[in-house]
Amino acid sequence: MTAPRPARPEDGLAWITGASSGIGRQVALDLARSGWTVVATARRQGELARLAAEAPQGRIIPAAADVTDAGAVAEAARRVEAETGRPIALAILNAGTYLPDSAAGFDLAAFTAQVSVNLIGTANALAAVMPAMIARRSGQIAIVSSVAGYRGLPRAIAYSATKAALIAMAESLRFDLDRAGVMINLINPGFVKTPLTDRNDFPMPFLMSVEEASRRIVAGLARGRFEVCFPRRFAYILKAMRIVPYAVYFPLVGRGTGRR
Ligand SMILES: NC(=O)c1ccc[n+]([C@@H]2O[C@H](COP(=O)([O-])OP(=O)(O)OC[C@H]3O[C@@H](n4cnc5c(N)ncnc54)[C@H](OP(=O)(O)O)[C@@H]3O)[C@@H](O)[C@H]2O)c1
Repeated sequence: MTAPRPARPEDGLAWITGASSGIGRQVALDLARSGWTVVATARRQGELARLAAEAPQGRIIPAAADVTDAGAVAEAARRVEAETGRPIALAILNAGTYLPDSAAGFDLAAFTAQVSVNLIGTANALAAVMPAMIARRSGQIAIVSSVAGYRGLPRAIAYSATKAALIAMAESLRFDLDRAGVMINLINPGFVKTPLTDRNDFPMPFLMSVEEASRRIVAGLARGRFEVCFPRRFAYILKAMRIVPYAVYFPLVGRGTGRR
C-alpha cells in the first residue's frame, strides 16, 4: 500500500471553489504562478474572468457554479476535465460564507444558508472529485474550515457549527482516504483580511494578510501535513481552548470577546 502524497502540477489540474474573492482568489493566483493549471469556481463569472486575466495566459480556467447545486458543481468540474483531457489532481474546497448571528436575532434562513454553502457545498464539491481520485489511487483534497470550528465561538452559531462539522468530516475521511492513496488536508485559518472579514465590526486578533495566508496554504499543501493552521499563536491558543473545561472556557472567552 503506497502512502498518499501531495499532488504535483504534472498530475493534473488544481480546482478551487470560492476562487472569485479573498483566500481562494489568492491561492488560485499563487498556484497558477507556480506551474499549476487552476480551475476556478464561484458564482460571479465576471470576477472569475478578471482573475483569469491576472494569471499567466491560460493558467486559470473559469468554471462558474453555485456549490449548493450538486449537479452544477459536478458538471463544471467534469467539463473542464473533458476539455483539457486532464484530471483534477488537487481540489481545494474553500467556498464559504459567514453571517454574524446571535440567539436574540436567530434567523433560520441565514443559518440554513450557511449550512448549505459551508457544509453541503463542500460535500457537493467533494462528491464531484473523490470517486475518480479513489479509482486512480491518487489525488489531494483540502477542506477549508476555520479555527472557529475548534469550539463554539460567540456570534458564530451557524458558522462555528458548519466549521466544526467540516473538521469532523476531514478527520473521518482521513481514515478511508489514507488507505485509498488519496491525501486529505484540513486548512484552519484564523482571521484573514478578505471581503468576508471586512464586514466584521469586532476586533480580530492576529489578522493576517491574504497574501501571507495563501503562502501558508500553498506551502502547507505541498508539505502534506494533515492540518494547516495559522497564524500559529492564535491557532494554538484556540486549540488549547478545546481542552479547557466549560467552567473555564465560557468566562474566559466571554470576557475576552465582551460577551460577559
Ligand atoms: N477570512 C477569514 O478570516 C477566514 C478565516 C477562517 C476560514 N475562512 C474560510 O475561508 C474560506 C474563504 O473565505 P474568504 O475570507 O476568502 O471569503 P470571501 O472573500 O467572502 O470569499 C468567499 C468565496 O466563496 C464563494 N462562494 C460563496 N458562496 C458560494 C456558492 N454558493 N457557490 C460558489 N461559491 C461561493 C464566493 O464567490 P461568489 O460570491 O462569486 O460565489 C467567494 O469566492 C471560507 O470557507 C471561510 O469560511 C476565512
